[in-house]
Amino acid sequence: MQIPAFGLGTFRLKGQQVLDAVSNGLALGYRHVDTAQIYGNEAEVGQAIADSGVPRGELFVTTKIWTDSFAGDKLIPSLKESLRKLRLEQVDLTLIHWPSPGDALPVAEYLGALAEARAQGLTAALGVSNFTIAHLQQAIAAVGAAEIATNQIEIHPFLQNRKVAAFCREHGIHLTAYMPLAYGKVMQEPVIQRIADAHGASPAQVALAWGLQQGYAVIPSSTKRENLAANLKAQALKLSEAEMAEIAKLDRNERIASPDFAPKWD
Ligand SMILES: NC(=O)c1ccc[n+]([C@@H]2O[C@H](COP(=O)([O-])OP(=O)(O)OC[C@H]3O[C@@H](n4cnc5c(N)ncnc54)[C@H](OP(=O)(O)O)[C@@H]3O)[C@@H](O)[C@H]2O)c1
Repeated sequence: MQIPAFGLGTFRLKGQQVLDAVSNGLALGYRHVDTAQIYGNEAEVGQAIADSGVPRGELFVTTKIWTDSFAGDKLIPSLKESLRKLRLEQVDLTLIHWPSPGDALPVAEYLGALAEARAQGLTAALGVSNFTIAHLQQAIAAVGAAEIATNQIEIHPFLQNRKVAAFCREHGIHLTAYMPLAYGKVMQEPVIQRIADAHGASPAQVALAWGLQQGYAVIPSSTKRENLAANLKAQALKLSEAEMAEIAKLDRNERIASPDFAPKWD
């Protein structure tokens, strides 16, 4: 199973906005859609997918289990509810959205429940999100590195997350970069703007190409059809080693997603 390198994010998008974003995205050629139970938009994502006419076999759909459904007896029912909303028999990938807040539940319990969900055919693959090295070590001990399809974490030029990325690389765990545009902040960065100008590209495309060139999947979101279309074209942009090195220097540990229940970051 390979995670398509370019996906469509849906965080914050609700109602008509998410219907439009997913419909436009699928029409433009996106084939990987990222949702989550907590986004409150699985039903609209499911509707947009159903209305699109894109054959199920061409689509890659990810959802994420929210922290209140991690217990052994809750995870599978919650995923069945996600499938009902998404109008799917199986999702391609199900992630543990965050490590259990305060580590109230052991990683082995909720990853074990997710592995059982996979055994029942509810999801084709399993993975994790916002996992630190310590949590990844527990995940590897619980299910084995080869079973972890991805660790979806915040990665953009201002938060390159190098320690976790190196650990994942060492253990052969794929990475998905969420908030790859730093929620729009990359647009104002002069170095990225200059590199973009040199390629006749946009700063968003440069940030996405930078992630793709490191082997990460990227899942930008946009409410605008023209931005969705332009972002997809980042796949054709190739940055030089010197440009990659310049962007590497922009790392400033600027984390955008860090709710009060977040783990102790590496
Ligand atoms: N696992 C997790 O805990 C987690 C956490 C956060 C996010 N995620 C996932 O990652 C996805 C991406 O993150 P995100 O949506 O927060 O942030 P993002 O993709 O980094 O940035 C989205 C923002 O960038 C703007 N934008 C997009 N394309 C643009 C372009 N070409 N030019 C100018 N502005 C552009 C969008 O505005 P417009 O709408 O105006 O285009 C929007 O404000 C989420 O949707 C979600 O699926 C996962």
